[in-house]
Amino acid sequence: MRTFFAVIIASLVALAALAIAQPTVPVLPFHDSLRGTTPLNEEPKAPLIAPTENKDVIRGLNYAQQPPTIPHKIDNYQLDKNANRCLACHARSRAEESGAVPVAVSHYIDRDGLVSGHLSPRRYFCTQCHVPQADAKLLIGNTFVAVEDIKQQPTSKSQKK
Ligand code: HEC
Ligand code: HEC
Repeated sequence: MRTFFAVIIASLVALAALAIAQPTVPVLPFHDSLRGTTPLNEEPKAPLIAPTENKDVIRGLNYAQQPPTIPHKIDNYQLDKNANRCLACHARSRAEESGAVPVAVSHYIDRDGLVSGHLSPRRYFCTQCHVPQADAKLLIGNTFVAVEDIKQQPTSKSQKK
């Protein structure tokens, strides 16, 4: 009986030693790109809303078929099931008068691939794909390079020639 208890106590001690020996996770100061250093159970002070870029200069595209970003403010433009303010300028019929870029022909093709005389329902909510840009500091770094800007690295084969 005595040896039995001795074994139990010895294994408990061994277990406790193991538990103590676990590597400890270093305590890093909490940081999140959106909330900063405010702990999760506290409400951070909301940052100021970055101003929308409103330079009216069409921006370049980063890849083929990218929906172009909106180069103007869209504050208070109604865009719901009752009205689409974007089309007041961007509809092909309004473009001449408004000076806006008319919506692409692809916006008149429905899901069956048929071209019709009116905007396709799947292209009705413009801001699903087109977004204005804020003049804001990047939250995280980005090293994206457009395909045209990737310089072909000489391969070992071509170097030998
Ligand atoms: C008052 C007229 C007007 C309204 C309303 C308007 N736009 Fe524009 N939009 C323009 C004009 C003009 C341009 C050309 C660049 C410039 O002057 O800003 C343009 C440019 C754009 C471009 C860039 C096109 C390209 O080829 O790069 C996009 C995308 C765009 N608008 C989307 C929208 C969306 C989405 C809405 C609705 C939320 C909207 N616009 C409402 C006049 C308008
Ligand atoms: C499902 C995504 C989607 C929706 C919704 C959408 N677009 Fe587009 N749009 C695109 C893409 C992708 C392009 C670029 C490729 C192309 O021409 O189809 C584009 C191109 C454009 C262009 C540039 C045309 C050109 O000739 O350079 C304008 C302007 C535009 N869209 C306006 C609008 C407006 C206004 C609406 C809402 C009525 C809208 N788009 C809805 C995806 C979308």
